[in-house]
Amino acid sequence: MPMAPAYKRYLEEILIDEDRLQARIAELGKTLNRDYADCEDLLLLCILKGGIMFLTDLSRHIQVPHMIDFMAASSYGLGARKSAGSVRIDMDLQTDVRGKHVLVVEDIIDSGHTLSFVIKTLKSREPASLKLCALLNKQSRREIEIDVDYVGFDIENKFVFGYGLDLDERFRNLPFVGVARQDALLDE
Ligand code: IMP
Ligand code: MG
Repeated sequence: MPMAPAYKRYLEEILIDEDRLQARIAELGKTLNRDYADCEDLLLLCILKGGIMFLTDLSRHIQVPHMIDFMAASSYGLGARKSAGSVRIDMDLQTDVRGKHVLVVEDIIDSGHTLSFVIKTLKSREPASLKLCALLNKQSRREIEIDVDYVGFDIENKFVFGYGLDLDERFRNLPFVGVARQDALLDE
């Protein structure tokens, strides 16, 4: 008998399957092509690591010439699956954002602490514009108000993984977003 894929024992259910994900990302791409139609200095800024799959798929739908760069930020002080008030930049982007139209591409907004800090940091560098595009949004978890310009899916307060999002650094490669089983989270 073939072995069951390893992720299955952690998966409660598939929340957003590959077709729905890709259809929504194509739609977002269309909207961005319209909104940034005349933009000459567009920079897609991927927040590592969770945003990688979303960035690469989204970028392929954007016909406006654009640059890509990466930034890594993390919250610390609490367990890996909880957010904290303190955020630090682990890896800064290389591009000088001054005068550029920056679109931040993020996997998920939870409490909002990470993005709030990233936005504050970027704003101080005087980009021409700064907007946010998040694949997933857990509105009910928000602790800090954030204006999200583009959202793929609003989701409930459940821990999800796949399509860039990790379960203890694993399973980012799955083509769908799945809900983690409660007992997969017990070792927190
Ligand atoms: P925030 O600062 O609370 O908004 O947390 C944002 C970060 O926490 C995201 O960029 C993810 O890396 C991580 N995160 C939040 N919720 C989940 C989840 O359900 N699955 C995987 N990672 C998550
Ligand atoms: Mg993230």
